[in-house]
Amino acid sequence: MDLVNRDYYNSRIKRVLISEEELHAAIARVGKEIDAEYEGKPLLLVSILKGAFVFMSDLCRAVSIPCEIGFMQAQSYFSGTESSGTVEITMDLEQDISQYHVIIVEDIIDTGRTLRLVAEMLRDRHPLSLKILTLLDKPDRRLVELETDWALFTIPDHFVIGYGLDYAEFYRNLPYIAEFDPPAKEG
Ligand code: IMP
Ligand code: MG
Repeated sequence: MDLVNRDYYNSRIKRVLISEEELHAAIARVGKEIDAEYEGKPLLLVSILKGAFVFMSDLCRAVSIPCEIGFMQAQSYFSGTESSGTVEITMDLEQDISQYHVIIVEDIIDTGRTLRLVAEMLRDRHPLSLKILTLLDKPDRRLVELETDWALFTIPDHFVIGYGLDYAEFYRNLPYIAEFDPPAKEG
C-alpha cells in the first residue's frame, strides 16, 4: 500500500459523505449560535489536535464575537482504523481556564473515550462553563457515556477521512468528509 501514489490514494476514497457546502453551512449556523450565547463573555475555544484543526480554523472564523483559541493534543488512534483503547494527552493548554467559558471543539466522537478524558480534565480546572461541540458523531460506536452540546452531523459506523480526519496521517487536507475504503486485510 502506497498512499503517496496518487491513483492508489484516490482509489481509497469511496464516496463523499459531507460536501464542503454542507460543512460550511452547518458551521456558519453554529457560529451564529455561539455569537448569541457568549456575547460579552470571556470565551475560549479549545481544539484537540490534530483532527480538529481544520474544523477549528473554519469555526473560529464563523464566530464574530471576541474569543481566544487554545490547543491540546490527545492520541488515541495510531495508524489503522481501530482505536487503541488508551488515550494520552501529549500537549496541554497554556491558559488557566478558570476565567473562561470553554467550548471543546472536536472533529469526531467515536467511542467517546478521548473526549470524556479531556472533558473531565478541563472540568477539574473549574472553567466558568464547559460545553462540547463536535463536528461528527458516530453514536453506534459509543463505549462511554458522553453528553454533547452540539453535534453538527450524525454519521453511520464508517471510517471517514478528510477535513482534518486522517487515515495513517493522510487525507487531512481533503476539503470534504469522505468514506474511506480500507485495504482488504482490514476491511
Ligand atoms: P474516540 O476516543 O474513540 O471517541 O476517538 C476519537 C478520535 O479517534 C477522534 O478524535 C479521531 O481522531 C479518531 N477517529 C475516530 N473515528 C474516526 C474516523 O472515522 N476517521 C478518522 N479518525 C477517527
Ligand atoms: Mg481527533
